[in-house]
Amino acid sequence: MKTILIPIAYLLTAFLLISCGQPSRDTQKPGKWQSYSGDKHIAQRVDSVLKLMTLEEKIGQMTQFSANWSITGPVMSDDFQPYLEKGLIGSIFNATSVEGIRRMQQIAVDSTRLGIPILFGQDVIHGYKTIFPIPLGEACSWDLALMQRTAEIAALEAASDGINWTFAPMVDISRDARWGRVMEGAGEDPYLGSKVAQARVTGFQGSGDGSRLDEPTTLLATGKHLAAYGAAESGRDYNPAELSEHTLRNVYLPPYRAALEAGVGTFMASFNEINGIPATADRWLLTDILREEWGFKGFVVSDYTGINELVPHSVARDEQHAAELAINAGVDMDMTGATYIKYLVKSVEEGRVSEKTIDNAARRILEMKFLLGLFDDPYRYLNEERARQNTMTPEFMETARKAVAASVVLLKNDNQILPITKESGKTIALIGPLMNDSINLNGEWAGLGNRNKSVPILKGLTEKYEGSDVKLLYAAGSTITETTQGKIAEAVSATRRADLIIAAMGEDFNWSGEAAVRTDIRLPESQRELLKALKETGKPIVLITLSGRPLDLSWEDENLDAILQAWFPGTQGGHGIADVIAGDYNPSARLVMSFPRNVGQIPIYYNQKYTGRPVDLSNEKIDYKSSYLDASITPLYPFGYGLSYTTYDISDVKLDKSSMKATNDKIIVTAMLQNRGNMDGDMVAQLYIRDLVGSVTRPIKELKGFQKINLKAGESKQVSFEILSEDLAFYGIDMKKKTEPGNFKLWVAQNSADNTNETDFRVEQQ
Ligand code: BGC
Repeated sequence: MKTILIPIAYLLTAFLLISCGQPSRDTQKPGKWQSYSGDKHIAQRVDSVLKLMTLEEKIGQMTQFSANWSITGPVMSDDFQPYLEKGLIGSIFNATSVEGIRRMQQIAVDSTRLGIPILFGQDVIHGYKTIFPIPLGEACSWDLALMQRTAEIAALEAASDGINWTFAPMVDISRDARWGRVMEGAGEDPYLGSKVAQARVTGFQGSGDGSRLDEPTTLLATGKHLAAYGAAESGRDYNPAELSEHTLRNVYLPPYRAALEAGVGTFMASFNEINGIPATADRWLLTDILREEWGFKGFVVSDYTGINELVPHSVARDEQHAAELAINAGVDMDMTGATYIKYLVKSVEEGRVSEKTIDNAARRILEMKFLLGLFDDPYRYLNEERARQNTMTPEFMETARKAVAASVVLLKNDNQILPITKESGKTIALIGPLMNDSINLNGEWAGLGNRNKSVPILKGLTEKYEGSDVKLLYAAGSTITETTQGKIAEAVSATRRADLIIAAMGEDFNWSGEAAVRTDIRLPESQRELLKALKETGKPIVLITLSGRPLDLSWEDENLDAILQAWFPGTQGGHGIADVIAGDYNPSARLVMSFPRNVGQIPIYYNQKYTGRPVDLSNEKIDYKSSYLDASITPLYPFGYGLSYTTYDISDVKLDKSSMKATNDKIIVTAMLQNRGNMDGDMVAQLYIRDLVGSVTRPIKELKGFQKINLKAGESKQVSFEILSEDLAFYGIDMKKKTEPGNFKLWVAQNSADNTNETDFRVEQQ
């Protein structure tokens, strides 16, 4: 709840002081870089490098290429090798393995005029070799310490393999389940999204102030994709975002800002346009807001060929024009497009880009290289022994397994069919295309995770129940998209001797991620057909869904006994899911994206506006209200929702005072939480408010705090939240961020639709 606002200028100063204050490192191998690394002050050191550089070499630093990867190691494509040899590349990504990276670094350091080291990037999104649940799933844990730890592990594994920089975290707000990239972020809420952004940046970079960036165990992080990429019209990837400045500032920008406050070193400009201007060419966004208003001091990278795409976007006449628009907007580095290196010397000579603009961009990139210690020792990340030691260790596996269990959301559990304990003596028919699958488990953007090594659910359950009285039978019944009457019959016959069915179904991992958009978000027809046949057996059915997005589970909700939303769980998927099924872990995850009743409700999110004709949810059928003729306006499962094997209660919500001032004041909210069941568990207490009247319309509810609390069976605990006056601030009619006086409602709740514990307070004029 309490956000510590540290202006980025201080953070950067902290970076500089920390790095400058350290004795210079013993270099492994002396190289040309040492000739200008004498001065310890980074700014001066950068200047001393810049002075030696030609205009073209500076632009080279602003150029990034992707290395191809083949079975035998990274292959330098003909495209970029000549640039590398001339010292005209600042960064390379998709180059993996210590050996391959060393080879490229050697060329940069030993064979180029100035020997400036390369910055090696990679999409380390939810793990590098140890793959954790997809970020959307992991965010459902509401466990910030866990998210920070998994980012730390991902950073350590990748940094041990020679990587310096990750293009993560993705912090785009996602309200549209059709969009495949919802899997990469933290869902629909700006408050939770901001907290998750901070946890992930801190995890990757090793600390909240960047002070551990100079250790070869952390990664420089990237807040992406700036901005509002998730607002793509109709969920279609790369589509325009048309949204008001109020929505941009109040909903979409907060997580990027939070990433910046956590010290993120770089941002990536998004592919999409916002209100007619592609982000890559948007000076207002990348310079006025990011640098001048927020004080960002790191550097901005374009997305993959994002600059070239200004031509088809129809704001640039040709690639040279595109490069000029991007650099003048504030994009410091061109990812793979080669527009800067091909055209910017000419643009400077022709006077359309100033040399100062180039100097600034090159300076920001060089500064990062100094911060990372690459000038002191370009090979400091490269050590085969370290790579071996820091890969998929037992500790990483244990954390991954916990992360799976903490991410699985129990959506339905009639008659407490789950858990199925080892002592239950049940016979279970295990069915479905994802039951014995390892290939899909890692989901998209799974780094270098070996898909064959992920633990299938069947294996997890088999090991879990080994030696117990529980018996398992197995038949797939279908593939992800196809089935036959024969396969269905085989599955049905496997259920005959069973007490219940567990079906693992869902999406192919390729159906989410970039450019993976669906207009029908139900289970594929073959799997629905199989489910219907299973339903006819009359046996109770537990469904485990694996998907990269919220699905339309209306039929399943109506017809099945239990549903576990397991996302794409990663390396330890089968074990973590088995822990939940057998009751060794009491599910504690809560949704971070609303699940629609059907695709027609999308975009759907809890913090909508009321409208002038709000619907009475107890009677949605009244005419001339903002409702649907053929469906409820409520989601199937709301934001913040999830069940456990125990029930929790919230009572005694109290405020220490009934009003506070609009600035520098706070209210303390306390509530009693109780675990009413007979199993220990973690409860997520969520604090929502509603601002009743504003200078611009206000959301129905807004999350303003949460706590995940462990409660033993039968235990009660008091929880307390602080609401600072600043926490209620928003961009109002004058587009200034402030807290407006007036009346507020407040709930301490178990999910966004829970209105049980409602109270109110007032914010007074000063
Ligand atoms: C994606 C980015 C990613 C980049 C590099 C782009 O297509 O939009 O999120 O970081 O590729 O792989």
